[in-house]
Amino acid sequence: DKGTYPFYMLKEVDEQPVVMRKLVQEYLDTDGSPVIEPELLSRMQQADKLYVVGAGTSYHAGLIGARLFERLTGIPTQVFISSEFAYEQPIMSKKPFFIFLTQSGETADSREVLVNVKKQGWPTLTITNVPKSTLSREATFTLLLHAGPEIAVASTKAYTAQVALQAILAKGLGMAMRKQLAIDFDVKQQLGLVAVGMQAIVDSKDQLESVAARYLAQPRNAFYIGRGIDWSVALESALKLKEISYVQAEGFASGELKHGTIALIEDKTPVIGIITQDRTAGLTRSNLQEVVSRGASVLTIASKHLAQPDDTIVLPDVDELLTPLLSVVPAQLLAYYTSLGKGLDVDKPRNLAKSVTVQ
Ligand code: F6R
Repeated sequence: DKGTYPFYMLKEVDEQPVVMRKLVQEYLDTDGSPVIEPELLSRMQQADKLYVVGAGTSYHAGLIGARLFERLTGIPTQVFISSEFAYEQPIMSKKPFFIFLTQSGETADSREVLVNVKKQGWPTLTITNVPKSTLSREATFTLLLHAGPEIAVASTKAYTAQVALQAILAKGLGMAMRKQLAIDFDVKQQLGLVAVGMQAIVDSKDQLESVAARYLAQPRNAFYIGRGIDWSVALESALKLKEISYVQAEGFASGELKHGTIALIEDKTPVIGIITQDRTAGLTRSNLQEVVSRGASVLTIASKHLAQPDDTIVLPDVDELLTPLLSVVPAQLLAYYTSLGKGLDVDKPRNLAKSVTVQ
């Protein structure tokens, strides 16, 4: 039931702080240590490489997860689009461990990979929102997202839940492996900050509604740009805008724009820069300067400690590995209000179904 909300998507965006707290409650004990099945942790510890597989938004969540796993456990991790992996399996490491990300647990492309991986005898984990779903039943292990039903076709709270749960799992695995590098990443405290930060962003909806009306209502195309983890969020942000508002949006690595794609920038093309990482903030800002001088309408989503006076949206500070949990929220809302402003059916965009059960 969507209560007083006009669309499920807005309700689901608003639920994200609660989902973060729910994950803390489900997976972290009072002293902040992850509570994860020891058998799962021990199978993961034996792996020489983690393979993360998903489609669409779940693939984008995997791009963030890979960085969390590598940084907090030291295990090399690679992310794959399920429909690609299914038909072009790379040369495998000796001891792979597979993580399937799927909100619905029913995506045919992802299931195809799971079936093949099982045949080859490799251990598997499904991270899903739906207990007893196909991919949950068929994997060796399951972790549930506890995000509550996601009804809108555009995935929002499942993305942030997938990122947060991968952070918890990576932390738990890092601790089990006694990795020194994990020690100052207090995942419980960080997810608390994230929940508060998300609340502040969803409370500033009115501002996002007017930004959407002013910059995104007219143009036929738009860009989200960023580097590293911000680029991964740019991909997800662009997908949200495309699927519900039909603006042709591209998520681009900001340094790569000048190698060709910058030719698409015209007067008033919206270019939204995501700036949350110390090492790359200055570089992305200079890439934004390059498009400003070609007439683009530049908007910015920047972390507080990196913010400048004319930034469009300022995000509360959290650990650099968890900034996607905040930077994606304004992008979700910009997509929502652009779609709403055009009078579209936000929850049921054309040509799309909530779960894609064909390959
Ligand atoms: C985008 C979206 C899709 C799904 C994709 C995978 O908003 O919802 O891209 O993320 O179809 O679905 P699941 O996660 O159910 O496997």
